[in-house]
Amino acid sequence: MILFNQDKIRQHLLRQDVTMHLFETIDSTNQFLQTLPLDQAIHICLAEQQTAGRGRLQRAWHSPFGQNIYFSCRYFLKNHLEALSGLSLLAGLSVAETLQALQLPQNVFLKWPNDVMYDQHKLAGILVEIQKITSEGCYVIIGIGINVNMTETTAITQSWTSLKKMLAVDIDRNVLCAHLIDQLFRDLNRFELHGLKDFLPLWRARDYLFQKHVTLQTPLSLITGMAQGVDEVGRLIVRLTDGTQQLMTSGEATIVKQ
Ligand code: BTN
Repeated sequence: MILFNQDKIRQHLLRQDVTMHLFETIDSTNQFLQTLPLDQAIHICLAEQQTAGRGRLQRAWHSPFGQNIYFSCRYFLKNHLEALSGLSLLAGLSVAETLQALQLPQNVFLKWPNDVMYDQHKLAGILVEIQKITSEGCYVIIGIGINVNMTETTAITQSWTSLKKMLAVDIDRNVLCAHLIDQLFRDLNRFELHGLKDFLPLWRARDYLFQKHVTLQTPLSLITGMAQGVDEVGRLIVRLTDGTQQLMTSGEATIVKQ
């Protein structure tokens, strides 16, 4: 088992102006960055194992030692509070593009808002959190969990997959992390300038729910309809049975089998 190594990551990294924090064990890489004093540097936290890895909707993220990528970065998003919803979709796209570049034979898809799917199974997940809002912008923490070399577990109840399950080879996590960092920051810079709309054609090409009959569970309601893609701020467009459209800002989508 080859562990994370900062020098190896940097050997493959184009963008060197990042501060890295590597841990064997930590509660959560997102949590580590939440407690880091504010500054203008770009901080990245990586761990071999998380004891309290967290997912969306208060779920836990299964984080066994040395097998996967548990990655978080802190980024200062200037003057764009309204862009926050799009940011989590953008991060999903960056992960999907990074993984697709591994020559996966099938397409990587994105299940709104930001589950990364391969062959109908979840391959990676993203959790975006806000650390602090200031008058100039917002410190955001982008947490990414990718199932890389894990091939067995009974701890996950959702249907899941990993790169090793799909490709039948061990993946070098140091190289993959370097590619992820470069892709993510390239995309974040473009996102700050142009917003999510610049990425919509790419996102739509990977839209897992497009034209699927879905149910959406939100804290307040359960709605059913046909998924019609996402809009310029990352809301899911759902056509209800009465023909009206509803724009969803959050929720958990499930495809209805017909
Ligand atoms: C999801 O529910 O799909 C989001 C999962 C996000 C998991 C990652 S692993 C690295 C970072 N640290 C955490 O505690 N969570 C995120």
